[in-house]
Amino acid sequence: MCGITGYIGEKTATDILVDGLKRLEYRGYDSCGVAGINPEKGLYLKRVSGRVDALDALIAKDPLKKGTVGIGHTRWATHGVPSEDNAHPHTDCKNEVVLVHNGIIENYLEIKEQLLRTGHKFKSETDTEAVVHLIEEKIKGLNVSGAAARSDVLEPMFFEAVRRAIAELKGSFAMAVLWARCPGMLLAARQHSPLVIGLGGGENFIASDVSAFLKYTKKAVFLNDGEMAAVKKDSVLYFNFQGKKVEHSPVTIQWDSTMAEKGGYKHFMLKEIHEQPESVENTLRGRLLPLKGDILQREINLPSELIRNIKGVQIIACGTAYHAGLVGRYVFENFGLPTSVDFASEFSDRAKIVNKDILIIAVSQSGETADTLYAVREAKASGAKVLAITNTLGSTLTREADYVLYTHCGPEIGVASTKAFIGQLAAMYVLAIHFAVIRKNIFDADAREYANELLKIPRLIEAALEGSDAVLKIAEHFAKSEHFLFIARHINFPIALEGALKIKEISYVHAEGYAAGEMKHGPIAIIYKGMPVLAVATTSKMLSLVANNIEEAKARGAEVTAIVDEDSRKLIKASHYITVPRTAEILSPLLTVIPLQLFAYFIALAKKCDIDKPRNLAKSVTVR
Ligand code: G6P
Repeated sequence: MCGITGYIGEKTATDILVDGLKRLEYRGYDSCGVAGINPEKGLYLKRVSGRVDALDALIAKDPLKKGTVGIGHTRWATHGVPSEDNAHPHTDCKNEVVLVHNGIIENYLEIKEQLLRTGHKFKSETDTEAVVHLIEEKIKGLNVSGAAARSDVLEPMFFEAVRRAIAELKGSFAMAVLWARCPGMLLAARQHSPLVIGLGGGENFIASDVSAFLKYTKKAVFLNDGEMAAVKKDSVLYFNFQGKKVEHSPVTIQWDSTMAEKGGYKHFMLKEIHEQPESVENTLRGRLLPLKGDILQREINLPSELIRNIKGVQIIACGTAYHAGLVGRYVFENFGLPTSVDFASEFSDRAKIVNKDILIIAVSQSGETADTLYAVREAKASGAKVLAITNTLGSTLTREADYVLYTHCGPEIGVASTKAFIGQLAAMYVLAIHFAVIRKNIFDADAREYANELLKIPRLIEAALEGSDAVLKIAEHFAKSEHFLFIARHINFPIALEGALKIKEISYVHAEGYAAGEMKHGPIAIIYKGMPVLAVATTSKMLSLVANNIEEAKARGAEVTAIVDEDSRKLIKASHYITVPRTAEILSPLLTVIPLQLFAYFIALAKKCDIDKPRNLAKSVTVR
């Protein structure tokens, strides 16, 4: 977690750093800070316990003015409580070396103890501070004090000091380092945490993710693990941790900076909910028809032979992506391919059970979730091939997976995932049909019909979104409830889980998603008079059973809201109805999830919660 920014160029660094931090706040937001060099006064450091807006206000009172180099950070606490002292950037004893870090230094206590013995004074409880003092120590070791203040002398020394410090670190890190005596160069390093360099004209950027600098440049270089970059305003050089130069060609990012702005919506989450027709459209585009899947085949490079030979699929993911995986299981199994789904955090120890006969599908919006990456590594070690479904170009998952299928949802900023989820579902359907055709588990005519139904979904999502006002009214009616229950069966069971997760994430109230048929085996006991129960009851072969489960809940006092389509509505008796368009049962999760996302959004709105930045969460969880 945590977001890093770095800038070197001609502009006032803090303007760019703060702007970037605002875009990276989804990575953590319990404290933040920036550091720069003021040509007259030396090191400039501003930190706050709290959000980037507070940092912005602090900077406005005492601006950096002529400083054109700096680093910034927005934090999600791991070691040390959220406080100003623990906020990054961290400095060495002399306030000359300053550093921001994302990740965890596993051996920091050892390093810190050694440094304390040699007289270093620590000001925070963080693991990061050990690194900045270690760099200070390495600089001392290079005997820089006698060196001329010329950049051609100091820069190689600075590089070497950072390189030697890094060689002693265990754990994960992305970092940016600035040395007040060397203001013409920033150093960046990456090991298991994302870091990308933005290449501008006469200015360059460092960031945890491209959204921080897209406004200024679309040219980017994603550092690999074990690499460093020496970033100056007119050049960037890349090295491995042994100090050997490596070459990189920049990629051009297709995302537009305005895609990461609210565009008139009150919250990113609401904007992203409304972008879902496009997310599905973009993820399906060109991948369904013609059926033989040539385009898809070329795009992901997954050999047909592998698809034909596998005995099953194992999906691994976390959070909302896990729910997409659960839907995926029903979809793959519908086409005769046995599929298991696990939380990535629970899977790693079970990875021994997979082998080359099982295709791993790792689903992750960010492509940086530590649990997912770890599970992928374990599965690969057991001999399985890994196909990634991700939204993020250049992410760690895309490098570690054998094959990648991108969802094309654009940047998702709201911490509670919505459009990325629908993109992940769309990707599951694309793959399932592609696999079914290649494995000859479906007649071409049926596959074509299924593809045509899928292509109608974006318009049907638009229609589902038109029901937003009805959802608002029901949400306002239940806004004071402290407990919510979501029930559904079969392929919509994961949607019940997702509906409950959305409420928990952004409203902080208790919500449970449950398999409707399982309620009677225990959980029905929690139902009290007036308890809000949301039941997915669209047309399906399970509808009459769902209708029974709704009756059972009502008989115990529940106030039921049914998510129905125009046909199923006639068969369901509930207190409130939310109608979505009818589609094939197998595709229904793409529509039933829409009102549940809106419901969670409106509940959180009524409760005046911080919807895009819910407490205790971060969008990208890069710790295990
Ligand atoms: C975090 C986020 C969730 C997200 C999960 C998986 O917990 O708060 O919204 O679903 O990570 O993220 P990923 O990027 O792997 O899809």
